[in-house]
Amino acid sequence: MPVLTVLPDGRQFSVPAGTGLLKRLRQAGFYPDAPCGGLGKCGKCRVSVNGVEVLACQTAVEADMTVLLPDSNGFPASSGKLGTGTLLAFDIGTTTVVCYLLSDAGETLATASALNPQTAFGADVVSRIRAALAGEGSALTAAVRRCVEALVCSVCEAGSTDPAAIRRVAVVGNSCMQQLFLGLPVENLARPPFHPLLRQAETVACRPVFPCCPEAELLLVPDIAGFLGADILGCVLAENLQEAEELTLLLDIGTNGEMVLGSRKGLLACATAAGPALEGAGIRFGMRGAAGAIDRVWTENGSLHFHVIGGGEPQGLCGSGLIDAVAVFLEAGQINRRGRVASDLRLTQRIFLSQEDIRQVQLAKGAIRAGIELLAEQMGVKLEEIQRVFLAGAFGSALNPSSACRIGLIPEELLEKITPVGNAAGAGAIRLARDESALALAQTLAEQIRPVELSSLPGFPRRFAKAMEFREAKS
Ligand code: FES
Repeated sequence: MPVLTVLPDGRQFSVPAGTGLLKRLRQAGFYPDAPCGGLGKCGKCRVSVNGVEVLACQTAVEADMTVLLPDSNGFPASSGKLGTGTLLAFDIGTTTVVCYLLSDAGETLATASALNPQTAFGADVVSRIRAALAGEGSALTAAVRRCVEALVCSVCEAGSTDPAAIRRVAVVGNSCMQQLFLGLPVENLARPPFHPLLRQAETVACRPVFPCCPEAELLLVPDIAGFLGADILGCVLAENLQEAEELTLLLDIGTNGEMVLGSRKGLLACATAAGPALEGAGIRFGMRGAAGAIDRVWTENGSLHFHVIGGGEPQGLCGSGLIDAVAVFLEAGQINRRGRVASDLRLTQRIFLSQEDIRQVQLAKGAIRAGIELLAEQMGVKLEEIQRVFLAGAFGSALNPSSACRIGLIPEELLEKITPVGNAAGAGAIRLARDESALALAQTLAEQIRPVELSSLPGFPRRFAKAMEFREAKS
């Protein structure tokens, strides 16, 4: 049997000849990035095998191999105030998992985050569902639980807390993330009518799900609809939208685009099939917001400038840089209304945006923009009547609002009303962990928020096509 040596870790294991390299790496607990889910399309699962770069998803192990994995995204952990933690709150995102350790009084003592290792099965929920249906469900569950346990250790160490002292854990995530974390099947998310599985708020024992907190209770937060999960419910709770006097639009733009519109008079919500393009997945030079990523692009006196996270040579563009770049090229007249470009749009000699990249941005921004317009229409209000726009999520908060409006992701008339609100889903999980009445409120909200299924609206295809267009630069 061939032997696989994985660097920089140095672990070795034997592999039946012919096994797919990506699959074997995942089985062994290594999770290289694989945004297209192993279809061989994205080119992002590159690893070095015996000194030669290959796509892990397209490589079979036929002989002994030494595999060098690229730098993985580590665990940023930070500790704040001192005290003993007794509560944990989790936001299990499709891309990032964030954990908060809280004191009994609800103060945040430590936080830690990590890349969701399920990214080795694909960047978006669709590829995770596909992987689960293809028999990888328990591998997906094991991957995220391993990550959650490591985060628990990380925050407990930073907050000088014994995990056995944790008494309550609140978890939010989209429906797919929640179900995979709990080890539930995801068939309900694979085809219409996408009924949610988690309909009832519940408190169960933590031990069977993550034994590292054996004494804790686990709060199960209900979903609003198949693709409107506890994460968007967490955002509503964090911002108290159910009590808002002002008509508020909350946009959670991450790997999925979910939104809520309303006030204390009522709330509507929808999910859009925006996909992860706005976070850089599926974009030729796209990457996460890590060291080496261009995260801001602007012009000064007619020349192009950009900022690179951590300085040095840019490796690619993250979502906020991508949206800035499209806005800059639009303003320069290099992209027309339909998204056509005459040639590649260069940021550096190496890094550019292609016609296909612009197309991906159009599809994603069109889906979100159409969602905003149709939610307003369903509520019977005009866009200009919206009084506040909250941008949630790490990506939403990093976005330059002017660029988001310039590319038409958000209507330009709402520019002055935009406020970034950070990780609102995480803030919702914190509220659930520390406020004993919040779980019952979550149940009420899950029943009261009216889900809008965009694709079932007769005007959706036309609206979506229109929303993909750009506003051309004034000549
Ligand atoms: S090319 Fe291998 S995961 Fe996309």
